[in-house]
Amino acid sequence: MTDYSTFGRHSFGPDFIWGTATAAYQIEGAVDRDGRSPSVWDTFSHQKGKIKTGETADSACEFYDRYESDLLLHKELGFDSFRFSLSWSRILPDGVGPSQGGRLNEAGLAFYDRLIDHCLALGITPWITLYHWDLPQALETKGGWPNRSIVNWFSEFADVCTKAFGHKVKHWIILNEPLAFSVLGYFTGQHAPGRRSFRNLLPVIHHTALAQAEGGRVVRRNVSGAHVGTTFSCSPIDPFTSSTRDQAAAVRVDALLNRLFIEPSLGLGYPKELSFLAGITKKVAKPGDMEQLAFNFDFIGLQHYFRAVVEGSYFIPYLWASQVSPLQRNVQTITEMGWEVYPESMYRVIQQFSQYEGIKKIYITESGAAFFDTVQQGAVNDVARLDYHRNYLQQVLRAKRDGFAVDGYFAWTFLDNFEWAEGYRPRFGLVHVDFRTQQRIIKASGRWFQQLLSNEHQLANLTSTV
Ligand code: BGC
Repeated sequence: MTDYSTFGRHSFGPDFIWGTATAAYQIEGAVDRDGRSPSVWDTFSHQKGKIKTGETADSACEFYDRYESDLLLHKELGFDSFRFSLSWSRILPDGVGPSQGGRLNEAGLAFYDRLIDHCLALGITPWITLYHWDLPQALETKGGWPNRSIVNWFSEFADVCTKAFGHKVKHWIILNEPLAFSVLGYFTGQHAPGRRSFRNLLPVIHHTALAQAEGGRVVRRNVSGAHVGTTFSCSPIDPFTSSTRDQAAAVRVDALLNRLFIEPSLGLGYPKELSFLAGITKKVAKPGDMEQLAFNFDFIGLQHYFRAVVEGSYFIPYLWASQVSPLQRNVQTITEMGWEVYPESMYRVIQQFSQYEGIKKIYITESGAAFFDTVQQGAVNDVARLDYHRNYLQQVLRAKRDGFAVDGYFAWTFLDNFEWAEGYRPRFGLVHVDFRTQQRIIKASGRWFQQLLSNEHQLANLTSTV
C-alpha cells in the first residue's frame, strides 16, 4: 500500500499549482473610495440583524491599501499563485458599462492593474475570479439575478475586465460557487441580497447558469491563451441509514449540491432527480437556451470543506431531505463553522467529478478551516488548521496518484477576513489579522506551508508545530 502520510512539494509534481484564494469584499475594505459604488453586500451588512456580529466589511483587511506588503507576505509563504476577485461595482459603479449607458471607473481598473503588476513583479501568478458574490446594488435595484438582463450585464462586465487585463492575466474563473449565492441570496435569504422566495429561485438558477457559460465565451474571445474555468462548492453526500428513504434523499441532495451547475455546463441539462427543476425548461428558459448553457471549460475549480450526511424528511419542501448535523451524529472533529473535518471526503469529490468525461482538469480552488485562534507571545499556534490542510492535501495526493487529473490546491484563505453573515469571528486565514491594528502574524499553518513549499524534500508530517 502506498503511504501518503509523508509528502513534500515534489510529491505533487512540478506542474502542481500552489495558491491561496481570497475575495474582494472579504478583504479589500475601502468601500467608498475612488468611485466604488455599493454592492449588495454593503447594503446587506449594514442592515440590522443580517450579520451575526453586527459587523460590516467597510474596512476588512484594508487590502486595498496594504496589498503591496500583503503580497510580500504571500511571497514569503511560498505560494506561486494568488486567487482574488474583482469588485464589479469598483469597475462599473452603475453595474452596466459604457455599451449599456453606464460609467467605466478608471480608478477601479487602475487598482487591479497595480495589484496584477505587483503580483507579476513578485513572480506570483494572478488567478482572477470575475464574480465572488458582490453584485452592484445598482443592478439589484433593477431586479438582480432574477432579471434575465443579468446575462448581458455580466457579459459586459466580463468583456471590460478581460479587455483591460487579458494581456497580463491568463487564468480566469467565471463564478465563485453559483449554488451558494443563488440559494443563500435569493431563497433562504441568509446572504445578500437577503431575498426569500421560491418564485425567484428557478430564474436565478437559470440566469446564473447562462451567465456562467456566457462569461466563459467572453474570456475565450478576448484573452489569447486563456485558461478558463469556474468553481463549484461540493460535498460527498452520505445517507444517514441504508433505508431506501435516506438513500433517495442522498440522491436528491447530491443533485442539488453537486450537480446543479456542472451538468448544464457540460451540455447534460439540469439534473432530472429534482422534479422542481423541470419548471426551468417549462417556464423560464427561452428557445435555444439549453444549448447556450454549455461551455467547454479548460478546468473546473472544486471548493471542498466537509461531507454531508442526510436523511429523508417530510418537512423540507421540494427536497424532502435534511442534513443530520455532525453534532447529532456525535462527531467531535468539527470546525468553528460546525463543519465536520473528514479528509477522505476530499478524495471522494475529486473522484466523483472525475467521472464526467467533459472535465479536463480539476483544481481545488478552495479548502480550509475556521478554528478559534489565540495570539500568545506574538505567535498563533493553530495546530488544528495545520492538520486540516495536511490531511486534506494528503487526500489530494492520493487522488493524483490514482490518476485523477487534479493539479492544484488553493488554501482558503490567505488572511483572516470578513466571513460573510458570520462577521469576523470565524478565522480561516494562514495569516492572523488583528482587525483593530491591522497587524499581521503568520500562523503555524502558514509556516507549515512555507516549509512545505520552500524545501523540495521537506516531509510534511514531521513539522506539525513551528
Ligand atoms: C466561499 C468563501 C467563504 C468560504 C468559507 C466559500 O464558500 O467561496 O468566500 O469565505 O467558503 O465559508
